[in-house]
Amino acid sequence: MSDFAEFILEGKSYKYPIVVGTEDEKAIDISTLRADSGFITLDPGYKNTGATKSAITFLDGEQGILRYRGYPIEQLAANSSFIEVAFLLIYGTLPTQQELDEFSNKITLHTLVNEDMRKILDGFPSTAHPMGILAALVSSLTAFYPESLNPNQSKEEVDLSIVRLIAKISTIAAWSYKNSVGHPVNYPKNNLDYCSNFLQMMFAFPTENYEVNPVVVDTLNKLLILHADHEQNCSTSTVRLVGSANASLYSSVSAGISALWGPLHGGANQAVIEMLEEIKKDGGDSKKFIAKAKDKNDPFRLMGFGHRVYKNFDPRAKIIKKAADDVLTALGIKDPILDIAKELEAAALTDQYFIDRKLYPNVDFYSGIIYRALGIPTDMFTVMFALGRLPGWVAQWKEMRENKEPIGRPRQVYVGETERDYVPIENR
Ligand code: CMC
Repeated sequence: MSDFAEFILEGKSYKYPIVVGTEDEKAIDISTLRADSGFITLDPGYKNTGATKSAITFLDGEQGILRYRGYPIEQLAANSSFIEVAFLLIYGTLPTQQELDEFSNKITLHTLVNEDMRKILDGFPSTAHPMGILAALVSSLTAFYPESLNPNQSKEEVDLSIVRLIAKISTIAAWSYKNSVGHPVNYPKNNLDYCSNFLQMMFAFPTENYEVNPVVVDTLNKLLILHADHEQNCSTSTVRLVGSANASLYSSVSAGISALWGPLHGGANQAVIEMLEEIKKDGGDSKKFIAKAKDKNDPFRLMGFGHRVYKNFDPRAKIIKKAADDVLTALGIKDPILDIAKELEAAALTDQYFIDRKLYPNVDFYSGIIYRALGIPTDMFTVMFALGRLPGWVAQWKEMRENKEPIGRPRQVYVGETERDYVPIENR
């Protein structure tokens, strides 16, 4: 293979280096194209644009492969804990027992948030969506830790910001739920692991004893691992773009949370359950909704179906479908929505429209059913996604910073008016 690509533009030849990744992914480095020729490339939605070289996550959408730092997602979901995977993503290697203990202990010791944050929380009406609260409170960490705003923080200072964020986001997330139901907040408990502590902050009541169910803890670990990173998706690209302006970790992640909220991205898990509920209420005829999804005059889309990069199957969806069956059986829950989801999946997978467009269930199709079984309310689903995605955002922000990447600044092709003179208001 040639090690350069040649473009002929207006009769002139330009050569650009071919960059090959460790998994043989090929790219043309056109970073000097405009300076050389006056041309830019146009790629709305960045469908074909590599924004960075990254060593964190490998994804092959055609073959349904997902690996964090080289380790297959199937192995990590089966054997690892969320905190171990967070360490792997952020620091690049699986931790030794001592490294894992130290990392876990540090996180445990930072789960408490400043009491003044409760005053900010109190200012939100109970109708506030927990994702809005999460984005606002994560951004407000800059007020409590102003040193995080310094773009020249040392490695140790960055590590402390990272530990604080992973620790405090679980408290903030649980408190955002407590706010929405008007209940008093629960404080973190240092004798519990990350997932158990989050569950007690979500579900314990002052009037009752709360026992953490190990099945729920295992399932939560699995779900968070499956969501932990997904290379340059919308929210992660947002985190890197915001961070590239030297914005703090907290501001960058807050922006990522806002991006994740959208129903075409992380908000899909909430949208899936709402869709399945709608189908159930309508009599459970999945064929009718498949027809709606295919109708170009109907804005309805099958939520939880399709993916920008997976065009064969989403490996996370495979694991989650099995986990949904397992956890519902273990908890003795019969959810009619799971049957509707399976019916809908079977109908879509044999329908030519979905086959032609390579549309398969994605990670969000079954995750909502599991969250429901764990007792997590629907408008908290995307918050759960954010909790899981945090290590990925952190790892990507850190990589961007360590690689000293330039500020992100796409160009455009201007298609507006050419120059014209201002018209006084009385003459318009
Ligand atoms: N239902 C019906 N038709 C669909 C769907 C769907 N869920 N997804 C894509 N299509 C059709 C689309 O209409 C288009 O058809 P045509 O070629 O005839 O115009 C074709 O498939 C390609 O779709 P696209 O919108 O160009 O594909 P994209 O890569 O830009 O969008 C997507 C990917 C995930 C935004 C889209 O599939 C979608 O909206 N899915 C539903 C929302 C969802 O589940 N999002 C969660 C994604 S996974 C979690 C995450 O990582 O964020």
